[in-house]
Amino acid sequence: MKEFRLQPKILFGEDSLDYLKTLEYKKVMIVTDEVMTQLKLTDFITNNLSSSTEVKIFNKVEPNPSMQTIENGLKDFIDFEPQCVIALGGGSPIDACKAILYFAYELYKKLKVNKKVFFIAVPTTSGTGSEVTSYSVVTKGEHKIALADEKMLPDVALLNTVFLNGLPAKVVADTGMDVLTHSIEAYVSTNANPFSSSFAMKSIKLIFENLVAHYNDRKIQGPKENVQFASCLAGIAFDNSSLGINHSIAHTVGAKFHIAHGRANAIIMPYVIEVNTEANRKYFEISRELGLPSDTIEEGKYSLLSFVRILKEKLAVEKSLKDYGVDFEAFKREIPSMLEDIKKDICTQYNPNKLTDEEYVRLLLKIYFGE
Ligand SMILES: NC(=O)c1ccc[n+]([C@@H]2O[C@H](COP(=O)([O-])OP(=O)(O)OC[C@H]3O[C@@H](n4cnc5c(N)ncnc54)[C@H](O)[C@@H]3O)[C@@H](O)[C@H]2O)c1
Ligand SMILES: [Fe+2]
Repeated sequence: MKEFRLQPKILFGEDSLDYLKTLEYKKVMIVTDEVMTQLKLTDFITNNLSSSTEVKIFNKVEPNPSMQTIENGLKDFIDFEPQCVIALGGGSPIDACKAILYFAYELYKKLKVNKKVFFIAVPTTSGTGSEVTSYSVVTKGEHKIALADEKMLPDVALLNTVFLNGLPAKVVADTGMDVLTHSIEAYVSTNANPFSSSFAMKSIKLIFENLVAHYNDRKIQGPKENVQFASCLAGIAFDNSSLGINHSIAHTVGAKFHIAHGRANAIIMPYVIEVNTEANRKYFEISRELGLPSDTIEEGKYSLLSFVRILKEKLAVEKSLKDYGVDFEAFKREIPSMLEDIKKDICTQYNPNKLTDEEYVRLLLKIYFGE
């Protein structure tokens, strides 16, 4: 039996923050990062909560959150006992909040406590789609681990572009390319279905039409809003189909060489598209939908590759890990351990091509040298 799940409720539009005024919880915990408190983006949340609500802000989430951070957040969660948690930030705070809830529910289970905490996710990047997925990615040492559990699905995803005005261009490039990786991987996944594919295709189109404009001027409303929609659509798509080895490689390379998640995906993307020959027809379908030259399957795939390469240039993304500054000796040394992590990664299962170890090593070297 196949399944397509539509959850959470998605609230969006100029007045979406008014929803917070309707909450009647006595204790609300906000999980976020220090940038959000410095930029006073947390005020958009707290100013809309009832004055009688007791609020606890945990703002210690770092990019690519570590298990230590999750433990610290869990400690605050247990001490405070909120009825509602609000994750505010990019994928890192939202994933950290999900992991805190995951471990809290594990604890409740052990203690035979039946408790549900209401969960609202408010994304401040247009990237991970974490506000609509049941995944959380946490970093343990040099490894990224993806947790997957429906208990981590938010009850409400609250979208508002007010959070996106001060985004640095680099973050828009990284997170926007993460969206494109999600939607392309969801579309070519061997677990894709007509529902997930239509969400994925719409997301690809919105990125194609809006990402560069949003990157060049983060103040223009149309592109900003469309990239936010694209991020959410891609999240729904891949949560229901899967990602692929673009993500498996980005997880391992990102964790070992400290590269932002979206940037790692962006560097890797053309090389993975090239190697995924089993998905050539699907890449062609994407090009046809975008109006790129696609008289034949080969031409369609080539057009998509050209589009991705040009997009990377426009967003100032490095062509290869070498250009990014990764040391070759260190990279070479890590190949055996990277190979193990990539094969174990949750995203590898539904990738169109099943690669041999030799093919993985060849691919990793291509990603390194950019050839
Ligand atoms: N759960 C999922 O399904 C999923 C999917 C993909 C990636 N991820 C994970 O998400 C994390 C990456 O998330 P991300 O790419 O959104 O980045 P992020 O949350 O790490 O944020 C990147 C930087 O941008 C800053 N920032 C965020 N919003 C801002 C704003 N509105 N204005 C100014 N600065 C802002 C942050 O403070 C941070 O310094 C990684 O850990 C990755 O593995 C999760
Ligand atoms: Fe991603």
